[in-house]
Amino acid sequence: MKASGLPTHVIITNQMNNDLLRVISKKNYSKLVVLVDSNTRKACYPKLNSELPAHDIIEIEAGEEQKNLATCEKVWQQLTDLNADRKALLIVLGGGVPGDLGGFCAATYKRGIDFILIPTTLLSQVDASVGGKLGIDFHGFKNHIGVFQEPVATIIDPRFLETLSTAELRSGFAEVIKHCLLSDKAMWDIIRKKKLGELDWTVMVPHSVSFKAKVTQADPKESGLRKILNFGHTIGHALESYFLNTPNRLLHGEAIAIGMIAESWIALQRNLLTQDELLQIQAYIISLYGKVNLPLDKTSVVSLALQDKKNVGDKILIAVPKGVGNHVWDLETSEAEIIEALNFYEGLTT
Ligand SMILES: NC(=O)c1ccc[n+]([C@@H]2O[C@H](COP(=O)([O-])OP(=O)(O)OC[C@H]3O[C@@H](n4cnc5c(N)ncnc54)[C@H](O)[C@@H]3O)[C@@H](O)[C@H]2O)c1
Ligand SMILES: [Zn+2]
Repeated sequence: MKASGLPTHVIITNQMNNDLLRVISKKNYSKLVVLVDSNTRKACYPKLNSELPAHDIIEIEAGEEQKNLATCEKVWQQLTDLNADRKALLIVLGGGVPGDLGGFCAATYKRGIDFILIPTTLLSQVDASVGGKLGIDFHGFKNHIGVFQEPVATIIDPRFLETLSTAELRSGFAEVIKHCLLSDKAMWDIIRKKKLGELDWTVMVPHSVSFKAKVTQADPKESGLRKILNFGHTIGHALESYFLNTPNRLLHGEAIAIGMIAESWIALQRNLLTQDELLQIQAYIISLYGKVNLPLDKTSVVSLALQDKKNVGDKILIAVPKGVGNHVWDLETSEAEIIEALNFYEGLTT
């Protein structure tokens, strides 16, 4: 599969087992442990080659609610019970939750053991797979505790997506749309004419991973360029948090999809996008994600946006496309403008 500019440890393949065996054989590991969640154990673990050398399995419950310190304790305890020493290898087979948590556990167990990530959701393949961010949620704060640490290998095989639910696939696809809008007008012109089921993941996954890798390599610690990846996320995260404890909970990508429309509207106000570009963006996103009823109380959504980690002081800073295929970051917006942007979304007809 074609992907350019990837860090050497990131492998996109349709021969996952061969690549895994090759990476493992490079070092003399004392023990292999595979970390799965309750779903990836059933859907993904059987796809690991029976030739994988003897290994133990640690299974965690599936879901974001598990991405916490209590689950880390269980993983560290099981590693301890298995007598895993500093030469052990942890292979994390799962989406972003096992990836972030498992990587964090490995990076801290006995001051750090090697780990391999095998991301199995679209979101984890195109987003969490590069950039070295690991961590857990803490007391309601998302990704509050964590480290930057690269795995010895990240092995991405789009065939894992075959068992993923449509809802999860569509959620991860929001990041793919984001990557196209920020970096590649030609690819945007291709995808915006396609339905989810018509997309070729062996093309889209490498395309998206290459873009994310380029950005994170240029700015590993998020001091500038990497902030562009926040497009759609200032307003999207606020909506995701708002709906978290309601019956209308949104998947991450569903919230980001709304955020991308609202933030594109702000870009239009600054002449960074044309009316036609905004129309294309809103039409495509709504055709895929439908229209969500927003809360009447928009000020509480805005107060959540004020807590965004990317803000500086009391300024609300967003990243948006500057013409489809290009981008700006640290664009200042205001509480009033975010409310207007949400009103714009609300007024759209499907
Ligand atoms: N580290 C980063 O840079 C980064 C980037 C983006 C997101 N994240 C994190 O990733 C997490 C979300 O990731 P996610 O959406 O992958 O969540 P997830 O790991 O919870 O996976 C979503 C669901 O799909 C199931 N699943 C996974 N792979 C499957 C497969 N192949 N077939 C069937 N079911 C499968 C899981 O069990 C789970 O129920 C969040 O915690 C987010 O903070 C991290
Ligand atoms: Zn995201």
